[in-house]
Amino acid sequence: MKIKIALLNGDGIGPEVTAQAVKCLQAVEETFGHEFILTEAKVGAAAIEATGDPLPKATLALCKESDAVLFGSIGDPKYDNDPDANVRPEQGLLRLRKELGLFCNIRPIKVFPTLMEKSPLKKKIIAGTDFVIFRELTGGIYFGEKSLSEDGTTATDSCTYTEKEVSQIAHLAFKAAKGRRKKVTLVDKANVLESSRLWRRVVKKIAESYPEVTLDFMFIDNAAMQLLIKPTQFDVILTENMFGDILSDEGSAIGGSIGLLPSASIGENYALFEPVHGSYPQATGKDIANPIASILSVAMLLDHFKLDEESRAVVIAVLKSIKKGIVSPDLSTSSKYGTNHIGDFISGNIRDSDDYLILNKENIWLGKSTII
Ligand code: NAD
Ligand code: IPM
Ligand code: MN
Repeated sequence: MKIKIALLNGDGIGPEVTAQAVKCLQAVEETFGHEFILTEAKVGAAAIEATGDPLPKATLALCKESDAVLFGSIGDPKYDNDPDANVRPEQGLLRLRKELGLFCNIRPIKVFPTLMEKSPLKKKIIAGTDFVIFRELTGGIYFGEKSLSEDGTTATDSCTYTEKEVSQIAHLAFKAAKGRRKKVTLVDKANVLESSRLWRRVVKKIAESYPEVTLDFMFIDNAAMQLLIKPTQFDVILTENMFGDILSDEGSAIGGSIGLLPSASIGENYALFEPVHGSYPQATGKDIANPIASILSVAMLLDHFKLDEESRAVVIAVLKSIKKGIVSPDLSTSSKYGTNHIGDFISGNIRDSDDYLILNKENIWLGKSTII
């Protein structure tokens, strides 16, 4: 298969982790006889430095003419620490999501059995955790009207949702649930927010077309707690943009590190794959960032193109690195392995190993069911 991929490394640890993901893509390309055409473009702070724009026209054009986007991370302390900066790296990612119509962000959260003791939570609480967050990605408070009064003392961000925005992601969440444990939990704040009440009405109606799926509702404040006391109760969490952002970082603690969490952002015409984490500026250039979130984002990319065997090969190589203790310092404080070495090990395993042909599907971390 020939796939054109726009490679947007971004800032901070972005380039370091995507470099490892690219090694894995190349290993898949060679092992399985595909052609992955990778073209790089700037985004975020790196793009602001070069062009003044966090999403230059050429970058957007490249993404639009590609079959998929592999994204690193954006963000820089220079902007984080300057609330007065009008041009910000994050605007590049937000505009890209909007321009590509990536309304559905899929963030699977599972615990690796061999990493259970890395979680701050007790083993008996997290054992068997396997849920996926369907986060709405192009609406809500992120994209509502913003204003700041002239005297700078009053600021507004409004949260707007339309029935269409809710229903398009809700359908995808129900379809995913059909292939999983058949449960959708809508997380909202319908006791306070009008936009959440719209979500409840629309999602309730859509649920009627999926009689085999159970729908339940949970307020965001309770969900934030339930995630820590009984994460195994969740199958598919459906939620709006901001709640999904917060819940996914919280969820990353269950499995031991945010450095493990990949994501896929899907729309009608485009797809983008990126880690859940950010640019982790404290780690830039230190060869300590965990590359697994980026590598598993490649697995999600391969799944998206129905390259099941290939995706499985990537996941198995990741599992092997974890099992052998070839992990970054976020998972083992005494680790002597760096980002690059881990990338070499995982990509080397994709090349060398043929166990993915015989391994039981039970062992696969990213089940097919998480991806549509
Ligand atoms: P962050 O995700 O960059 O880092 C938070 C913490 O998570 C780190 O201190 C580190 O302990 C851990 N971490 C993150 N990635 C890791 C990895 N690969 N390996 C090991 N540990 C890892 O979030 P932040 O510090 O809140 O934000 C830093 C910058 O990143 C900000 O500018 C923010 O806007 C941006 N950001 C970008 C994205 C994105 O590009 N999608 C996502 C989140 C944050
Ligand atoms: C994420 C990030 C982004 C978001 C930021 C960088 C705009 O936190 O991808 O989770 O809030 O969506
Ligand atoms: Mn986030």
